Amino acid sequence: MRIFLDTANIAQIRSAAKMGVISGVTTNPSLISKEGHADYEAAVKEICSIVDGPISMEVTVEDAKGMVEDARKYAKWAPNVIIKIPCTAAGLEATSVLKKEGIGVNMTLCFSPNQGLLAALSGAAYCSPFVGRLDDVGHDGMQVVRDLVEIYRNYQMSTQVIAASIRHPLHCIAAAKAGAHIATVPYNILMQMIQHPLTDAGISRFLSDWKRLTQK
Ligand code: G3P
Repeated sequence: MRIFLDTANIAQIRSAAKMGVISGVTTNPSLISKEGHADYEAAVKEICSIVDGPISMEVTVEDAKGMVEDARKYAKWAPNVIIKIPCTAAGLEATSVLKKEGIGVNMTLCFSPNQGLLAALSGAAYCSPFVGRLDDVGHDGMQVVRDLVEIYRNYQMSTQVIAASIRHPLHCIAAAKAGAHIATVPYNILMQMIQHPLTDAGISRFLSDWKRLTQK
């Protein structure tokens, strides 16, 4: 499973990129707004220059024509821009147009296997089931990831599953065990994935033993 960073925070993206563990970034209007990127074009271009992989930028209109226009504009910003489009009838229509133009789509706000199947049929390169938001309303969000991995595999569909709305490190393990192609992870959760108290205790003991030997 590959890991994308789910943020529009440039410092966090630089930090994660240095570790060599992320291969893409997903943004959305809320994340860009949270960072106060009034010049969102410049921000997305900067992100595209930091990470050599798919960078998702979301459309902010609801009609198919407007989505296609937004997508064509964003796709010119950098070769690695991927267009995030919500899973609606208009979103599917826009995705099928963009597929023919060679513009990659990450179908977002996916909450059911049926939505994910339609995303793949419309030509989306990626589909993002929102695990945490489903869990929030009492559904098993990860089951949608499992179902989509199975459905895409059954029919050799090339659409990749991005486990999104990841809320804690256990979601990452479950997504990897489910066979998700990608999990898009907030920076704080990436940091939690690294942490282990036994690693810290082990370093501390090795260093103090070394000091005892070398400072005799
Ligand atoms: O990138 C979209 C998705 O990951 C949002 O997550 O935490 O707002 O449900 P969240």
